[in-house]
Amino acid sequence: MNKSNLGLPIGTTLDRFIKQKQDQFSSATGELSQLLRDIALAGKIINREVTNSGLLDISGGFGSKNVQGEDQQKLDVIANIRFTRALKNGGMTCAVVSEEEDEIIHLNPDCRYVVAMDPLDGSSNIDVNVSIGTIFSIYKRISPVGGPVQDEDVLQKGTEQVAAGYILYGSSTMLVYTTGRGVHGFTLEPSLGEFVLSHDSMTSPEDGKIYSINEGNYLKFDPWVREYVDDCKEKGMTARYIGSLVADFHRNMLKGGIYLYPNTQKDPNGKLRLIYECNALAFIVEQSGGIATNGEQRILEIQPKEFHQRTPFYLGSKKMVETALSFIKSTETVAG
Ligand code: AHG
Ligand code: MN
Ligand code: MN
Repeated sequence: MNKSNLGLPIGTTLDRFIKQKQDQFSSATGELSQLLRDIALAGKIINREVTNSGLLDISGGFGSKNVQGEDQQKLDVIANIRFTRALKNGGMTCAVVSEEEDEIIHLNPDCRYVVAMDPLDGSSNIDVNVSIGTIFSIYKRISPVGGPVQDEDVLQKGTEQVAAGYILYGSSTMLVYTTGRGVHGFTLEPSLGEFVLSHDSMTSPEDGKIYSINEGNYLKFDPWVREYVDDCKEKGMTARYIGSLVADFHRNMLKGGIYLYPNTQKDPNGKLRLIYECNALAFIVEQSGGIATNGEQRILEIQPKEFHQRTPFYLGSKKMVETALSFIKSTETVAG
């Protein structure tokens, strides 16, 4: 049997893996373990919906209701409902901040954990059978347990994440997460309905050849970004861009690469959202040996001011991100 670097066999179920990790900490209450299991369950449910979306025609709104009296909605809204419900029923989460909701979703005030999530990432790829994902971050609340959740509980720096991860609905479905002690990857075994350990101690190659950026925005990029993209071409690098952040990130972490979503004239703060897209992937990339930055600052050290705050986002293999940063000149502004 193949043993992972952690001494657990490849094929260990996620439940067992989480339990064994929990047992290594005598102070652990089991609440975080349960929360991770709740997220995994929600991921399996979303996977089922994604897999059947073509058959069920749930990629667009019907204007009708299902047996539970819910409007049949787009998959990203369905994912939001499924995840929120799983976290509510799991009973470990006091509040959720989601891409799909303007305000905090209040769950059980007696719980310690706040979850930030992008329930369905890569919306433009839903209808065309291309990889999409879910992103999540878990924080401990700052305000006292039992009282109402405050904005400050959600507006925490990424350095305060106690766990983060993503689920990738790709050619296979994977759940990848970190609690700050390495990055662990699990593949859904469909006939068992279980996530099993397939990629232990995931590490980003220190250098790579893939650059991922929406080059359709090339003329709107800052000059340094255009120069960097030109440099990638001159060096014969490979362009890969799916348009689903989770999928682009996952490929780059496995193969070595850089993902860039810069600011443009149209989006002066970039497009991607700090709290429920960037922080989780920044935590994971750092745990895997890579770098995540907004060009000026480590992503994890940005103090969020708004739930849906955006940020330029550059992350991936250490040497590639360092090279990209070397192109930034402090005096430059968005191209006119
Ligand atoms: P979401 O579907 O959650 O709104 O996120 C879409 C994001 C991200 O997944 C992707 O990397 C990016 O948008 C693609 O944007 P462009 O189409 O502008 O390249
Ligand atoms: Mn997204
Ligand atoms: Mn989304």
